Amino acid sequence: MSSLLEVAGLSKAFGGVVANREISLTVPDGAIVGLIGPNGSGKTTLFSSIVGHHPIDGGSIRFQGREISRLRVAEIARLGLLRTFQQTRVYGQMDCMRNMLISAPHREEGLLDMLSRHSPEQVDEAERLLAFTGLFEKRFLMAGDLSFGQQKLLEFAMALMNRPKLLLLDEPTAGINPTLINGLIDRLKRTNEEIGITLFVIEHNMRVIMDLAEHIYCLAHGELLADGTPDEIRGDQSVIDAYLGAH
Ligand SMILES: Nc1ncnc2c1ncn2[C@@H]1O[C@H](COP(=O)(O)OP(=O)(O)O)[C@@H](O)[C@H]1O
Ligand SMILES: [Mg+2]
Repeated sequence: MSSLLEVAGLSKAFGGVVANREISLTVPDGAIVGLIGPNGSGKTTLFSSIVGHHPIDGGSIRFQGREISRLRVAEIARLGLLRTFQQTRVYGQMDCMRNMLISAPHREEGLLDMLSRHSPEQVDEAERLLAFTGLFEKRFLMAGDLSFGQQKLLEFAMALMNRPKLLLLDEPTAGINPTLINGLIDRLKRTNEEIGITLFVIEHNMRVIMDLAEHIYCLAHGELLADGTPDEIRGDQSVIDAYLGAH
Protein backbone atom coordinates (compact mmCIF):
# COMPACT_ATOMS: atom_id res chain seq x y z
CA MET A 1 0.00 0.00 0.00
CA SER A 2 1.30 3.46 -0.82
CA SER A 3 1.04 6.09 1.88
CA LEU A 4 -1.82 8.55 1.69
CA LEU A 5 -0.66 10.69 4.61
CA GLU A 6 2.94 11.21 5.72
CA VAL A 7 3.71 13.31 8.77
CA ALA A 8 7.40 13.99 9.43
CA GLY A 9 8.92 15.76 12.44
CA LEU A 10 5.73 17.67 13.22
CA SER A 11 5.93 19.99 16.23
CA LYS A 12 3.28 22.28 17.71
CA ALA A 13 3.36 24.29 20.93
CA PHE A 14 0.74 26.48 22.59
CA GLY A 15 2.73 29.09 24.47
CA GLY A 16 5.03 27.04 26.69
CA VAL A 17 3.09 23.80 26.27
CA VAL A 18 4.58 21.51 23.64
CA ALA A 19 1.50 19.56 22.47
CA ASN A 20 3.31 17.68 19.67
CA ARG A 21 7.06 17.12 19.56
CA GLU A 22 8.71 15.77 16.39
CA ILE A 23 5.87 13.42 15.46
CA SER A 24 6.40 11.20 12.41
CA LEU A 25 3.81 8.73 11.16
CA THR A 26 2.28 7.25 8.04
CA VAL A 27 -1.26 6.35 7.06
CA PRO A 28 -1.28 3.91 4.11
CA ASP A 29 -3.91 4.29 1.41
CA GLY A 30 -6.91 2.08 2.23
CA ALA A 31 -5.95 1.40 5.85
CA ILE A 32 -7.57 1.95 9.23
CA VAL A 33 -4.90 3.39 11.52
CA GLY A 34 -5.39 4.10 15.23
CA LEU A 35 -4.08 6.83 17.52
CA ILE A 36 -4.16 6.30 21.29
CA GLY A 37 -2.65 7.95 24.35
CA PRO A 38 -3.59 9.47 27.70
CA ASN A 39 -5.70 12.62 27.99
CA GLY A 40 -3.65 15.65 27.06
CA SER A 41 -1.06 13.63 25.13
CA GLY A 42 -1.63 15.70 21.98
CA LYS A 43 -3.93 13.52 19.85
CA THR A 44 -6.53 16.15 18.99
CA THR A 45 -3.81 18.74 18.39
CA LEU A 46 -2.20 16.40 15.87
CA PHE A 47 -5.50 16.05 13.98
CA SER A 48 -6.02 19.83 14.06
CA SER A 49 -2.54 20.35 12.63
CA ILE A 50 -3.10 17.82 9.85
CA VAL A 51 -6.35 19.42 8.65
CA GLY A 52 -4.90 22.94 8.71
CA HIS A 53 -6.77 24.20 11.75
CA HIS A 54 -3.69 26.03 13.01
CA PRO A 55 -0.15 26.68 11.75
CA ILE A 56 2.48 24.17 12.86
CA ASP A 57 5.87 25.13 14.30
CA GLY A 58 7.93 22.63 12.33
CA GLY A 59 7.88 19.50 10.24
CA SER A 60 5.96 18.48 7.17
CA ILE A 61 2.56 17.02 6.33
CA ARG A 62 2.17 15.32 2.97
CA PHE A 63 -1.18 14.17 1.59
CA GLN A 64 -1.00 12.13 -1.63
CA GLY A 65 2.60 13.28 -1.92
CA ARG A 66 1.71 16.97 -1.73
CA GLU A 67 2.88 19.26 1.08
CA ILE A 68 -0.27 20.60 2.78
CA SER A 69 1.10 22.14 5.97
CA ARG A 70 0.63 25.69 4.71
CA LEU A 71 -2.85 25.17 3.26
CA ARG A 72 -6.06 26.24 4.95
CA VAL A 73 -8.82 23.95 6.21
CA ALA A 74 -11.09 24.51 3.19
CA GLU A 75 -8.27 23.86 0.71
CA ILE A 76 -7.29 20.65 2.50
CA ALA A 77 -10.94 19.54 2.63
CA ARG A 78 -11.21 20.00 -1.12
CA LEU A 79 -8.25 17.66 -1.57
CA GLY A 80 -10.25 14.99 0.29
CA LEU A 81 -8.97 15.20 3.87
CA LEU A 82 -11.63 15.80 6.56
CA ARG A 83 -12.00 15.40 10.32
CA THR A 84 -14.82 14.99 12.80
CA PHE A 85 -14.72 16.46 16.27
CA GLN A 86 -14.57 15.02 19.79
CA GLN A 87 -17.48 17.37 20.59
CA THR A 88 -19.97 17.25 17.74
CA ARG A 89 -20.61 20.18 15.45
CA VAL A 90 -24.04 19.73 13.91
CA TYR A 91 -26.56 22.50 13.28
CA GLY A 92 -29.07 21.94 16.07
CA GLN A 93 -31.81 24.15 14.62
CA MET A 94 -31.87 22.31 11.28
CA ASP A 95 -33.25 18.86 10.60
CA CYS A 96 -30.93 15.97 9.74
CA MET A 97 -31.58 16.16 5.99
CA ARG A 98 -30.72 19.87 5.94
CA ASN A 99 -27.53 19.20 7.91
CA MET A 100 -26.60 16.59 5.31
CA LEU A 101 -27.36 18.79 2.32
CA ILE A 102 -25.37 21.78 3.53
CA SER A 103 -22.43 19.40 4.03
CA ALA A 104 -22.42 18.39 0.37
CA PRO A 105 -19.34 19.56 -1.53
CA HIS A 106 -19.31 23.35 -1.60
CA ARG A 107 -20.53 25.04 -4.67
CA GLU A 108 -19.75 28.56 -5.76
CA GLU A 109 -23.16 29.90 -4.75
CA GLY A 110 -23.93 31.74 -1.52
CA LEU A 111 -25.27 30.07 1.60
CA LEU A 112 -28.90 30.94 0.81
CA ASP A 113 -28.64 29.22 -2.56
CA MET A 114 -27.03 26.23 -0.90
CA LEU A 115 -29.93 25.98 1.54
CA SER A 116 -32.65 26.15 -1.05
CA ARG A 117 -31.18 24.23 -3.97
CA HIS A 118 -29.64 20.83 -4.11
CA SER A 119 -29.57 18.19 -6.79
CA PRO A 120 -31.74 15.06 -6.68
CA GLU A 121 -28.48 13.09 -6.54
CA GLN A 122 -27.49 14.92 -3.37
CA VAL A 123 -30.89 14.21 -1.81
CA ASP A 124 -30.51 10.52 -2.72
CA GLU A 125 -26.99 10.45 -1.31
CA ALA A 126 -28.12 12.16 1.91
CA GLU A 127 -30.92 9.62 2.38
CA ARG A 128 -28.64 6.72 1.58
CA LEU A 129 -26.02 7.85 4.10
CA LEU A 130 -28.64 8.55 6.78
CA ALA A 131 -29.89 4.99 6.24
CA PHE A 132 -26.29 3.72 6.40
CA THR A 133 -25.81 5.38 9.79
CA GLY A 134 -29.21 4.25 11.09
CA LEU A 135 -30.71 7.75 11.12
CA PHE A 136 -33.13 7.50 8.20
CA GLU A 137 -36.23 7.51 10.46
CA LYS A 138 -34.89 10.64 12.17
CA ARG A 139 -34.22 12.55 8.96
CA PHE A 140 -36.82 15.27 9.62
CA LEU A 141 -35.99 15.69 13.32
CA MET A 142 -34.01 18.72 14.44
CA ALA A 143 -30.39 17.69 14.93
CA GLY A 144 -30.45 19.38 18.33
CA ASP A 145 -33.14 16.93 19.48
CA LEU A 146 -30.98 13.87 18.75
CA SER A 147 -29.07 12.14 21.52
CA PHE A 148 -25.34 12.91 21.72
CA GLY A 149 -24.53 9.55 20.15
CA GLN A 150 -26.97 10.15 17.29
CA GLN A 151 -25.45 13.59 16.72
CA LYS A 152 -22.06 11.92 16.40
CA LEU A 153 -23.48 9.52 13.83
CA LEU A 154 -25.00 12.47 11.97
CA GLU A 155 -21.67 14.29 11.98
CA PHE A 156 -20.06 11.15 10.58
CA ALA A 157 -22.71 10.93 7.84
CA MET A 158 -22.20 14.64 7.07
CA ALA A 159 -18.49 14.05 6.56
CA LEU A 160 -19.25 11.14 4.20
CA MET A 161 -21.35 13.49 2.01
CA ASN A 162 -18.01 14.89 0.84
CA ARG A 163 -16.64 11.48 -0.11
CA PRO A 164 -13.29 12.17 1.55
CA LYS A 165 -10.25 10.04 0.71
CA LEU A 166 -9.06 10.26 4.30
CA LEU A 167 -11.31 10.82 7.30
CA LEU A 168 -9.87 11.61 10.74
CA LEU A 169 -12.26 10.53 13.50
CA ASP A 170 -11.74 11.98 16.99
CA GLU A 171 -13.12 9.47 19.52
CA PRO A 172 -16.07 8.23 17.43
CA THR A 173 -17.43 5.96 20.20
CA ALA A 174 -17.15 8.44 23.09
CA GLY A 175 -20.64 9.07 24.47
CA ILE A 176 -22.18 6.35 22.33
CA ASN A 177 -24.40 3.87 24.15
CA PRO A 178 -22.35 0.65 24.66
CA THR A 179 -25.10 -1.41 23.00
CA LEU A 180 -24.62 0.64 19.81
CA ILE A 181 -20.82 0.43 19.69
CA ASN A 182 -20.62 -2.88 17.79
CA GLY A 183 -22.91 -1.44 15.11
CA LEU A 184 -20.66 1.59 14.84
CA ILE A 185 -17.52 -0.55 14.51
CA ASP A 186 -19.26 -2.42 11.71
CA ARG A 187 -20.16 0.84 9.93
CA LEU A 188 -16.62 2.16 10.22
CA LYS A 189 -15.29 -1.08 8.70
CA ARG A 190 -17.83 -0.88 5.88
CA THR A 191 -16.94 2.77 5.27
CA ASN A 192 -13.38 1.61 4.81
CA GLU A 193 -14.00 -1.57 2.82
CA GLU A 194 -17.09 -0.74 0.76
CA ILE A 195 -16.83 3.03 0.25
CA GLY A 196 -13.03 2.90 0.17
CA ILE A 197 -12.33 5.68 2.67
CA THR A 198 -9.05 5.52 4.60
CA LEU A 199 -9.58 6.11 8.34
CA PHE A 200 -7.29 7.55 11.02
CA VAL A 201 -9.04 7.09 14.35
CA ILE A 202 -8.41 8.49 17.84
CA GLU A 203 -10.03 6.12 20.31
CA HIS A 204 -10.12 5.64 24.06
CA ASN A 205 -12.01 2.36 23.93
CA MET A 206 -9.23 -0.23 23.62
CA ARG A 207 -11.56 -3.01 22.52
CA VAL A 208 -12.76 -0.82 19.65
CA ILE A 209 -9.36 0.28 18.40
CA MET A 210 -7.79 -3.19 18.71
CA ASP A 211 -10.67 -4.54 16.64
CA LEU A 212 -10.62 -1.78 14.02
CA ALA A 213 -7.07 -0.73 13.35
CA GLU A 214 -4.34 -2.66 11.58
CA HIS A 215 -1.68 -0.31 12.91
CA ILE A 216 -1.72 1.84 16.06
CA TYR A 217 0.34 4.85 17.14
CA CYS A 218 0.58 5.76 20.80
CA LEU A 219 1.36 9.28 22.03
CA ALA A 220 2.44 10.30 25.54
CA HIS A 221 3.32 13.83 26.66
CA GLY A 222 3.18 15.05 23.06
CA GLU A 223 5.71 12.50 21.81
CA LEU A 224 5.34 9.31 19.84
CA LEU A 225 5.85 6.54 22.36
CA ALA A 226 5.37 3.45 20.21
CA ASP A 227 3.66 2.10 17.13
CA GLY A 228 2.79 -1.35 15.86
CA THR A 229 0.07 -3.89 15.25
CA PRO A 230 -2.64 -4.21 17.93
CA ASP A 231 -0.80 -7.23 19.37
CA GLU A 232 2.52 -5.38 19.45
CA ILE A 233 0.90 -2.37 21.16
CA ARG A 234 -0.87 -4.62 23.70
CA GLY A 235 2.47 -6.14 24.62
CA ASP A 236 4.58 -2.96 24.58
CA GLN A 237 5.81 -2.26 28.11
CA SER A 238 6.15 1.49 27.55
CA VAL A 239 2.53 1.67 26.34
CA ILE A 240 1.34 -0.43 29.27
CA ASP A 241 3.19 1.83 31.72
CA ALA A 242 2.02 5.11 30.16
CA TYR A 243 -1.51 4.19 29.19
CA LEU A 244 -2.85 0.67 29.08
CA GLY A 245 -2.04 0.01 32.72
CA ALA A 246 -4.72 2.53 33.62
CA HIS A 247 -7.33 0.86 31.40
N1 LIG B 1 -5.90 25.72 21.67
C1 LIG B 1 -5.09 25.41 22.69
N2 LIG B 1 -4.49 26.36 23.42
C2 LIG B 1 -3.65 26.05 24.43
N3 LIG B 1 -3.33 24.78 24.78
C3 LIG B 1 -3.89 23.79 24.09
C4 LIG B 1 -4.79 24.04 23.00
N4 LIG B 1 -5.18 22.84 22.48
C5 LIG B 1 -4.56 21.90 23.22
N5 LIG B 1 -3.77 22.46 24.17
C6 LIG B 1 -2.92 21.73 25.13
O1 LIG B 1 -2.15 20.81 24.39
C7 LIG B 1 -2.02 19.56 25.09
C8 LIG B 1 -2.57 18.44 24.22
O2 LIG B 1 -3.99 18.56 24.14
P1 LIG B 1 -4.87 17.66 23.16
O3 LIG B 1 -4.24 17.66 21.83
O4 LIG B 1 -6.27 18.15 23.25
O5 LIG B 1 -4.72 16.23 23.84
P2 LIG B 1 -5.61 14.89 23.67
O6 LIG B 1 -6.51 15.06 22.51
O7 LIG B 1 -4.60 13.78 23.52
O8 LIG B 1 -6.37 14.73 24.97
C9 LIG B 1 -2.76 19.75 26.40
O9 LIG B 1 -1.81 20.13 27.38
C10 LIG B 1 -3.71 20.89 26.11
O10 LIG B 1 -4.04 21.58 27.27
MG1 LIG C 1 -8.64 14.95 22.35
